[in-house]
Amino acid sequence: MLIAIEGIDGSGKTTLAKDLVKWLEEEKKKKTLLTAEPFTEEITKLIQQEGWKDPVTLALLFSADRGVHINWITKQDYDIIITDRYYYSTIAYQSAMGIDKNWIIEVNKYFPKPELTILLDLPAEIALTRIKKDDKFNFKEKLSLLQKVRENYLNIAKLDKTIRIIDSTKSFKEVLKEAKNYVEELVS
Ligand code: TYD
Repeated sequence: MLIAIEGIDGSGKTTLAKDLVKWLEEEKKKKTLLTAEPFTEEITKLIQQEGWKDPVTLALLFSADRGVHINWITKQDYDIIITDRYYYSTIAYQSAMGIDKNWIIEVNKYFPKPELTILLDLPAEIALTRIKKDDKFNFKEKLSLLQKVRENYLNIAKLDKTIRIIDSTKSFKEVLKEAKNYVEELVS
């Protein structure tokens, strides 16, 4: 079973993913793998070299990275796989950079659809205050881009019942509780 965690930078995905895995392992006794995109060191390096200038190349690199990621995931033996970012990231981010959303969907159409996607939603202004300064990707400071990315995520979620939105301005305890409820619906 594949579960994706999505949201703009600073939405709390990574912390949530870690805590969900801990809960699934310890309380639900599910063998759970925590993974993330971008996945490969080599492609991540190329993406950094590109410097966020060319969204077509970025969309293709992120999607190629996903292909390698999925091939690796397929070889792992786990009950549940939680990925911190998946193809919704490419749709939301690279379409915010001007790329046709349908083309990105087309490029990603052979990748498995997650049974559940948790979208951590919050205003970009709040998210920016939470972003670590030492982050390896440097385009994040751009408020207007993250606002567009957020809007894209919410639009995608309107059309897809497998995406569950959680208000990430709430306390982390509350966010985790809601996320556990959504996962519970699937695993029990
Ligand atoms: P990520 O490693 O999740 O960021 P963080 O360092 O905060 O954990 O993702 C790196 C950046 O890449 C993030 O700003 C989102 C962006 N991104 C895309 O633009 N498209 C994509 O397809 C993916 C997977 C990430």
